[in-house]
Amino acid sequence: MLTTGFNLWPIARNCRTSGCALLLMGVSRYNGNGRLIIGARSLHNGPGGWYPDDEQIVVKRRTSSKAWLKAHRDDPYVQRAQREGYRSRACYKLLELQVKDRLIRPGMTLVDLGSAPGGWSQVAAGLLKHRGRVVASDILPMDSLPDVTFIQGDFTEQTVLDQIVDALEGQPVDVLLSDMAPNMSGLTAVDQPRAMYLVELALDMARRVLAPGGAFVTKVFQGEGLDTFLGDVRHSFGKVLTRKPGASRPRSREVYLVARDFQGR
Ligand SMILES: C[S@@+](CC[C@H](N)C(=O)[O-])C[C@H]1O[C@@H](n2cnc3c(N)ncnc32)[C@H](O)[C@@H]1O
Repeated sequence: MLTTGFNLWPIARNCRTSGCALLLMGVSRYNGNGRLIIGARSLHNGPGGWYPDDEQIVVKRRTSSKAWLKAHRDDPYVQRAQREGYRSRACYKLLELQVKDRLIRPGMTLVDLGSAPGGWSQVAAGLLKHRGRVVASDILPMDSLPDVTFIQGDFTEQTVLDQIVDALEGQPVDVLLSDMAPNMSGLTAVDQPRAMYLVELALDMARRVLAPGGAFVTKVFQGEGLDTFLGDVRHSFGKVLTRKPGASRPRSREVYLVARDFQGR
């Protein structure tokens, strides 16, 4: 479920034009600029079933859910993902990082944190070409994928971290991916610390499981705590880049850190 807020508004719709059905369960509130902030979850009909996608939408006061549905239907990455059989528009972020940074190669062992509905795991497993494996984890369920071991649970819980480590069977990890994002309330003072907590835990895990020379790719949100976090990452990796893939919405504060050459500490 999404974070609680002021108004709960369930809407069920069928978008016949886009071929995907949406169920939106959101909470909305007005911010100080007269804009409505909506937490929304959409369910996409993709290969093998229904996949959830969460996002935070900011619309002008009094624009309706119709505006969101239209914006979602018109999103070129959503349309492309449906056409190309990908589970999420987020796939195009990892594909762009892969083109620029050549992170994933056959034979590697990967971890994908915050993996549902499975877009990044789908892309990663495809790049492995049946040589290597992905251990993926999310608090939400995820339909199975070839060469992907999925562990469902809250990554902030020690037992879930232990299950992921156990699933690796002592194999050092070449690339640890984290696209985790907390449910957004729309209040930066609440959302930013939650997001920072998740990336700090992901960095701890990277330090624990990465092979020397390995890579850590994580979504971060620009704001308080990011500079300190960047300093921590630079301490452990030889090279750290910040990327804003085309599929990352320009209005979103999210960017991706690509940290390479793990120094083993
Ligand atoms: C942007 S989505 C990931 C999309 C995914 N990379 C893809 O390509 O399909 C962020 C994910 O982080 C997950 N998440 C957020 N907090 C989490 C937590 N504490 N533990 C595990 N997963 C979490 C959410 O459930 C959500 O599925």
